[in-house]
Amino acid sequence: MAGLNPQAEELNHIIKAHNSTVYELLSRKGKGIYFPRKGILAQGIAAKGKEINATIGTAYEDDGKPMVLPSLARRLELDTKDAFPYAPSEGIKPLRDKWQELIRGKNPSLGTAEISLPVVTCGVTHGLSMAGYLFTEATDSVILADLYWENYDLVFTNGYGAELKFFNFFKNKSFDIDSFRETVNAKPLGKKIVLLNFPNNPSGYTPTRGEGEEITNVLTEAAEAGNKLIVILDDSYFGFNFEDGTFTESLFSQLARSHENLLAIKVDGITKEEYAWGFRVGFITYGIKNGSVELYRALEDKTAGAVRGTISNAPHLSQSLFLNALQSGTHEKEKESNKEKLKGRYLKCKEVLTAHKEYKAYFEELPFNSGYFMCVRLKNLNVDKVWDLLLKKYNTGVICYSEKNLLRIAFASTPLDKIEKLFNNIYAACKDCASS
Ligand SMILES: Cc1ncc(COP(=O)(O)O)c(C=O)c1O
Repeated sequence: MAGLNPQAEELNHIIKAHNSTVYELLSRKGKGIYFPRKGILAQGIAAKGKEINATIGTAYEDDGKPMVLPSLARRLELDTKDAFPYAPSEGIKPLRDKWQELIRGKNPSLGTAEISLPVVTCGVTHGLSMAGYLFTEATDSVILADLYWENYDLVFTNGYGAELKFFNFFKNKSFDIDSFRETVNAKPLGKKIVLLNFPNNPSGYTPTRGEGEEITNVLTEAAEAGNKLIVILDDSYFGFNFEDGTFTESLFSQLARSHENLLAIKVDGITKEEYAWGFRVGFITYGIKNGSVELYRALEDKTAGAVRGTISNAPHLSQSLFLNALQSGTHEKEKESNKEKLKGRYLKCKEVLTAHKEYKAYFEELPFNSGYFMCVRLKNLNVDKVWDLLLKKYNTGVICYSEKNLLRIAFASTPLDKIEKLFNNIYAACKDCASS
């Protein structure tokens, strides 16, 4: 490509030499981006530790501490140097190392397969957007389930011009593997971008172990057939599995080592997994069969460049706070305790739905076993009307998916003792609607 910055060309050269498919999969923007190591940043690094360092765009006190406002610093127990100065665009190194270690721990079947160091993003949405920046062209389609988080429209279609192409999620209360296979293998052979989100928003579904393996097989076979695949795994709700027999690892653990024509991109974060929605810390991690450290370093550099060119860097304060929490000694226990609460709400939904056979006259639940949400599908009723009645007459807010005739219920945010009332209100609103 003519006109590229030499640093971008250098990264492209490394990527091409280590896996030409990954190079081909990069978008024009992805091919053009680089982390500007040789400019101001390099001169800043060169000046580190010198008697006079007049390079950096951060104000320091005469004693070398960050110059801060006491009214901002007062409530922080952290050292100001771990919160106020910029974090690196790729994220703070101890957190990146730790998150990689956690990914390995939570996904043991990754084994010793080489994966990249995670690059820190400003939440999961930004991580998805960075995957779009690097790998999505306006002529591309993104293949995903027909039940999906609506923000994918804004990220991939509005942001990068890609068309969303859907497979049917459920058939006979199971993952519709045939629809998935057909959609992935639709002609022509070539670049395919697949976006998977388990546990899923809005359905609350995670594939069973068998289904997870089938999904991996479909994607691997598509790569064997000559397709070149990007598989983005939105693992926002990782770990919220409430039933035995579901696929509790990320599909990244399989896909990161499945085929040299398949680049797996794990996008996750502390938003849901660590109950820190407003902290805005996400991660983007790469894995491909026989991926080398050099390939991953080049991808990390491109990603850090894309981060630098969009938000510059993610909040240092949030990264440090989370790193501290990981080292607290109580973190795991606290997480388990929260998960137990969510599981209690999940089980309550199941119990109420089993106990109230009368609901079936008006609605039925879609399969759910994990995550934050579940959906009910209304039978021959106007879902918008039911939604409106719920708000106005029953003081109850849920999310309405008009085209799918679904209501999404966030059980994770509903107090346990309100869950039965919530379903009873839906039933009552449906009954009103049916008789009006
Ligand atoms: C499937 C899915 N992905 C990503 C996100 C957004 O994550 P973040 O808040 O970290 O951007 C959400 C939030 O609702 C989500 O449901």
